[in-house]
Amino acid sequence: MTTLGFLGAGHLAELLVRGLAGQGDRLVLSPRNAEVAARLAAEHGCEVASSNQAVVDAADGVLVCLPAASGADELARLTFRPGQPVLSAMAGTGLARLQAAIGPARAAVTMMPGYANAFRVGPSILCPEDGFWHAVLQKLGPVIAFSDESQFTTAAAFGAFSGASFGWMAHVIGWFQAQGLPPDTARTLIAATLRGNAEVLLREDRPLDDIARSVVTPGGISEMVLAALSAGDGLTAWDVGLDRVRKRIGG
Ligand SMILES: NC(=O)c1ccc[n+]([C@@H]2O[C@H](COP(=O)([O-])OP(=O)(O)OC[C@H]3O[C@@H](n4cnc5c(N)ncnc54)[C@H](OP(=O)(O)O)[C@@H]3O)[C@@H](O)[C@H]2O)c1
Repeated sequence: MTTLGFLGAGHLAELLVRGLAGQGDRLVLSPRNAEVAARLAAEHGCEVASSNQAVVDAADGVLVCLPAASGADELARLTFRPGQPVLSAMAGTGLARLQAAIGPARAAVTMMPGYANAFRVGPSILCPEDGFWHAVLQKLGPVIAFSDESQFTTAAAFGAFSGASFGWMAHVIGWFQAQGLPPDTARTLIAATLRGNAEVLLREDRPLDDIARSVVTPGGISEMVLAALSAGDGLTAWDVGLDRVRKRIGG
């Protein structure tokens, strides 16, 4: 049985624990945020260690879910074993900073949506490829590994895209509700539509432009919505937001 240690028992750790629970790993949590740690221990059979160092000592691999602003400093106070796999999910903490903080251990970085991983359908990105972490993350959804850290950092902006998509979905669902649809109906309609369309992109072999041309009829209702979005910067505003994220997480 593999022992996974979690440093930081907050929102992300809780979602990952939900996804990993019952899949054969021993999960050991850091003690700070006692309420969450105790709940996860009770609901998912995790153990709560006596200190952050005790997490590291017990773990085959350490998953870092600490606050991005202070996490690297906390890691530098701990002692890791040579070659011990350490995976950071902290937004904006690059490989060099992570490696410097964990000394002889083996650094890798990741990003994931979080919530979807609790349901084992959330993609994770990983840099560099690492067999230990690939096997762990694969239990939470598909894994995309990068050897080029700059590409990884660009890809990591998808974490923000994922979170922002909840605001977008809520907005559109709200429009259908405002026109009189029951909330549950509007929610199911939009969620099922997006899931279906995502499956098209994953399963269909045609170029994206071809697919778009086949569903957006000239002069039709889809084109009507796209025209309104373009006129209101509704599409290019995504670029503005993602540019800001890319800058914050990687310069
Ligand atoms: N939320 C997501 O879906 C998501 C997705 C991908 C990546 N991330 C990344 O994951 C990290 C955690 O995010 P989060 O949303 O889970 O934040 P969070 O809910 O604030 O969780 C962080 C946890 O770490 C604890 N902590 C702070 N300093 C600590 C220390 N020295 N030792 C042990 N525990 C300590 C905090 O305790 P206190 O509350 O007592 O300070 C808190 O429980 C961030 O770096 C973020 O970029 C999050």
